[in-house]
Amino acid sequence: MQEAPEVSATDTPDTPDHRTTEVTMSQHMSERMSGRMTEHLSESTLPGIETAGVGALGATGRPLPHFPEPPLLAAHGPARVIAMCNQKGGVGKTTTTINLGAALAEVGRRVLLVDFDPQGALSVGLGIRVNELDVTVYNLLVERGHDVRDVIQHTRTDNLDVLPANIDLSAAEVQLVGEVAREQILARVLRPVMDDYDVILIDCQPSLGLLTVNALTAAHGVFIPLECEFFAMRGVALLVETIDKITDRLNPRLIIDGILATMYDGRTLHSREVVRSVVDHFGDQVFHTVISRTVKFPDASLAAEPITTYASTSGAAAAYRQLARELISRGGAA
Ligand SMILES: Nc1ncnc2c1ncn2[C@@H]1O[C@H](COP(=O)(O)OP(=O)(O)OP(=O)(O)O)[C@@H](O)[C@H]1O
Ligand SMILES: [Mg+2]
Repeated sequence: MQEAPEVSATDTPDTPDHRTTEVTMSQHMSERMSGRMTEHLSESTLPGIETAGVGALGATGRPLPHFPEPPLLAAHGPARVIAMCNQKGGVGKTTTTINLGAALAEVGRRVLLVDFDPQGALSVGLGIRVNELDVTVYNLLVERGHDVRDVIQHTRTDNLDVLPANIDLSAAEVQLVGEVAREQILARVLRPVMDDYDVILIDCQPSLGLLTVNALTAAHGVFIPLECEFFAMRGVALLVETIDKITDRLNPRLIIDGILATMYDGRTLHSREVVRSVVDHFGDQVFHTVISRTVKFPDASLAAEPITTYASTSGAAAAYRQLARELISRGGAA
C-alpha cells in the first residue's frame, strides 16, 4: 500500500486510516453488485448529453438539473486553479484536462492547461513537439530567471494555452526536495499569469509525490476523475486523505470540486453500479455529467485536437461542454 506523501518538511503524517475506509468501500460495492443487480437506470438516459432531459434521471441516478449557458465574461481573471488528480493511472485525467479546457475556452473563458506529468501526454495531445522544447515547466520550477509567459504556448484553439512539459520534469521531484518551501514552487511559477486567465487546469501525473503536492498547493479545487470499473475507488481514500492534509497544512482554501465518472458504458450493469456506488459514497460531490467510453477520445488525441473540434457534434464533445456548464453553474469556474 502506498503511503500518503509528506506534505511539509516539518510535519509528520498521521497514521493513515485509509485502509479501513477502503475495505468498507469495496465491501459496500460488492454488496451492491450482488444484491441489487436488477435495479438499473433507464437505457434511454444517455450520459452527458442534453437528450437526457432536464429533470429526467441522469447517468448518476439523480435527476439531471439544467445547466444554463454560461454568461459571457466582461473581464478576465484572476484565475481559479483546478488540479486534475488521481494517483491511479489511465483514468482520464489528461483527456479531461484537454477537453474540459477546450469546452471552457469555447464559452469565452481564457484557459491555461499546465502539463505536470513528465510523460507530456497533455502537450503531445495538443500538437506540441515536446522533445524539441528548450524550456518547459521543468525549467520554471528548478531555475531562476525564466519568464513563464515565454514558456506558455498558444494552441490551435482560441483562448486555450498550454504550459508544456517533457521527460525533463521527471528530475524535478528529486531536485526540489532540498528547496525551501518546496511544496509552493508551482504556485510561485503561476503567480505572474494568474490575472491573464479565468481558469488554470493542472494535469497531474499518476502519483502523490511532490509534483502532485505542488499542484494541490497551487490549486483552489481538485477534480478527481474515476474510471467506471470495479476497482475505481481503490486509492481514493488515500487521495482524499492527502487532500485533507494539504488543506490542513499548506492550502486551507483547497476543496474537492467534484468527482467525475469517466469511461462509462451505459449498456453494462457494471458501469451503472460503479457510478451508483460512487454516488452513494460521495453524494453531491459527484458530477451529474458522466463521460462515456468512446474511441473518439483516443482518436482525438492522435489527431492532437480537443474533442470539441475533432468531433464537434459528437456526444463525447457534448459531454465535456455539459461538464464545463456544470462546473460554472456550481461556481467552480467564472
Ligand atoms: N472516455 C474515454 N473513452 C475511451 N477512451 C478514453 C476515455 N478517456 C480517456 N481515454 C483513453 O484512455 C487512455 C488514458 O486516458 P488519459 O491519458 O486521459 O488518462 P490519465 O489519467 O491522464 O492517464 P495517466 O495516469 O497515465 O496520466 C488514453 O489512451 C485515452 O485516450
Ligand atoms: Mg495523464
